[in-house]
Amino acid sequence: MTQPKRLFIKTYGCQMNVHDSERMAAAMGAEGYVQTDSVDDADMVLLNTCHIREKASEKLYSDLGRLKPLKAGRPDLRIGVAGCVAQAEGEEIIRRAPIVDLVVGPQAYHRLPAMVRGEAPAVVTDFPREDKFDHLPPATRRAPTAFLTVQEGCDKFCAFCVVPYTRGAEVSRPAARIVEDARGLVARGVREITLLGQNVNGWHGEDATGRAMGLGHLVRALAEIEGLARIRYTTSHPNDMTDDLIAAHAEVPALMPYLHLPVQSGSNRVLKAMNRRHTAEQYLRLIERIRAARPDILLTSDFITGFPGETDADHAATLELVEAVGFAAAFSFRYSARPGTPAADRPPVPQEIAETRLHELQALLTRQQRAAQEAMVGRTVGVLFEKPGRMGGQMIGKSDYLHSVFVKADNVKVGDLLPVQIVASASNSLQGRLAA
Ligand code: SAH
Ligand code: SF4
Ligand code: F3S
Repeated sequence: MTQPKRLFIKTYGCQMNVHDSERMAAAMGAEGYVQTDSVDDADMVLLNTCHIREKASEKLYSDLGRLKPLKAGRPDLRIGVAGCVAQAEGEEIIRRAPIVDLVVGPQAYHRLPAMVRGEAPAVVTDFPREDKFDHLPPATRRAPTAFLTVQEGCDKFCAFCVVPYTRGAEVSRPAARIVEDARGLVARGVREITLLGQNVNGWHGEDATGRAMGLGHLVRALAEIEGLARIRYTTSHPNDMTDDLIAAHAEVPALMPYLHLPVQSGSNRVLKAMNRRHTAEQYLRLIERIRAARPDILLTSDFITGFPGETDADHAATLELVEAVGFAAAFSFRYSARPGTPAADRPPVPQEIAETRLHELQALLTRQQRAAQEAMVGRTVGVLFEKPGRMGGQMIGKSDYLHSVFVKADNVKVGDLLPVQIVASASNSLQGRLAA
């Protein structure tokens, strides 16, 4: 028997990249590659990149710099670059870093095996008509949770964002395909599915009778699958939170009480300059409606500080919005000018100011995160157990509200979904004990 080849994959960026990496690993598995955790014994290295901020995209070149001596010693080592930097920079990557053999854009991953065999060009960044997921084998990872991509791309064109350019136009996968994929995952033991899309709540399709469906309808269809205990979705745009999706949060027990709803800023001036197409008041009103449907829902968001033109008053408005909502967690970033986006040509806010605002915002968000965790203490919540902890007899799982929960229990298995009483809150996790 021939020795299997070893594939090392490094993934940057969002959950869509994490999922794409799993699917590329499966496709390469069919070519005889097994995954390795060590770059030193790899026959092929695949870097699945992110272009969202300058720092994220520059990581590619620092990693390639570190791979250079390895490739010098082993010229047969194949190096591939996938993801959003691959899409944005294409052949330029090979010009800048000649050790790279292959460049493959996010919509062309089904062509990776042919590229590795030398039966396709070394650089593929087109947006083919076919759905890559129809041509990629399912992920082989066995776990009680799984990602399922339902929608890709973005037509929103926020003034700061590269995603519409790197992932292309919004495309929804057909409902029947998604339900079939979900059934397959559940048959392999998956109990929780997170539906993925850059604009996941913009998903649209048709039911068997040709009637138009939105994400709320899809969630209801998936909730019918026996054995599927939990459904989540990410990432949503405020303008696509339909009445039906909000109602699903009230009516579908499998839909978890957690929603990531990026707002970016609390200033109407900045929101307009960002091309977000909604005001702070509209966002707050939306949050009220979501909380009316599901009072215990936890909300998280994304923020950018130092967007071109942002004043102290705009920043104060962001802090005010955060105070008004009370988020359970959030990601916040200093604005990073991205080549090719409309905001990149606008006069920047000085870095130190953007940085100071970021720290101020993060301090507030951290206080809110602690408060949200403290509020869990004493409550009994569902926990889906995902892996053993480092301490003996300890198991780690995720609560309905997506908190990491540590429980000491000898008789709990990976994949168990059990009621847990929360007894304490640590910095980024909760401690619980099995409820009687
Ligand atoms: N589709 C999602 C998010 C995509 S990117 C959405 O619409 O919300 C994830 C987050 O990165 C964004 O929400 C934004 O907060 C941040 N981000 C995107 N471009 C950025 C940039 N140029 N500089 C700083 N942060 C950025
Ligand atoms: Fe980027 Fe805006 Fe699209 Fe989100 S909605 S991916 S931030 S352009
Ligand atoms: Fe990054 Fe592309 Fe995701 S730019 S955040 S990997 S869609």
